[in-house]
Amino acid sequence: MTHVSQPVAVVTGASKGLGRALAGALAARGWRLVLDARNPGRLAEELPSAVVLAGDVTDPAHRADVAAAVRALGRLDLLVNNASDLGPSPLPALADHPLEALRRVYETDVLAPVALTQALLPLLRATSGTVVNVSSDAAVEAYPYWGGYGSAKAALDQVTAVLAAEEPELAAYAVDPGDMRTDLHQAAFPGEDISDRPEPEAVVPGFLRLLDTRPPSGRYRAAELLRAEVPA
Ligand SMILES: NC(=O)c1ccc[n+]([C@@H]2O[C@H](COP(=O)([O-])OP(=O)(O)OC[C@H]3O[C@@H](n4cnc5c(N)ncnc54)[C@H](OP(=O)(O)O)[C@@H]3O)[C@@H](O)[C@H]2O)c1
Repeated sequence: MTHVSQPVAVVTGASKGLGRALAGALAARGWRLVLDARNPGRLAEELPSAVVLAGDVTDPAHRADVAAAVRALGRLDLLVNNASDLGPSPLPALADHPLEALRRVYETDVLAPVALTQALLPLLRATSGTVVNVSSDAAVEAYPYWGGYGSAKAALDQVTAVLAAEEPELAAYAVDPGDMRTDLHQAAFPGEDISDRPEPEAVVPGFLRLLDTRPPSGRYRAAELLRAEVPA
């Protein structure tokens, strides 16, 4: 039985990896969810209480569908911009980065989160809601070959910081989840054994701590959230 007072979250890119793990944890807490992925697979059967929309976050019509689904639920407490494009695999040096691929990275990792935030801001303001933009250490470290994806995540970090300054009633977080054993991570390290990286489920408690304690808006690393080093 759902109730209009139950909190509502949008999680983009929820078919696998971190987005799937986070969606499962929020559903288990009774959140109502609007989820997407280009190929959601069995997500709707796995999380039957969620609204699952197949689509690409870079597609304005799909984003309008997401916003309409949220409006139908009557409120929005949390937007998690998690869907991400890494760019070509193996990762190219900036000298060789195909510009069409770079445009696609920026469209997915920067413009789509901004556009979804714009579409959902009235609902987020109404609940003094939370925006979580999933970042990366590549946003702040100058790793060779990570210049396309890393610069997009750096832009997303700054978008988050300015959003926090412009919308002080919201909580706006850029969160670096750290390395996780996912398809995106495998694409960044093709052919490498990544089995020593933690499963995405391992970092979810850090994200939940953020929601539970609502520290000041800012940039956080899941590792410090997991160690409870962030003051509430
Ligand atoms: N894994 C790591 O080590 C790591 C480290 C730092 C940061 N991150 C960040 O963590 C977040 C989650 O990554 P992950 O590792 O969990 O990746 P993942 O396992 O590859 O999952 C990515 C999810 O996003 C969806 N997606 C990708 N492009 C999309 C689009 N254009 N529209 C809608 N959905 C889209 C994918 O589904 P479809 O393909 O079906 O669309 C999938 O559900 C990303 O923001 C990533 O940058 C990851």
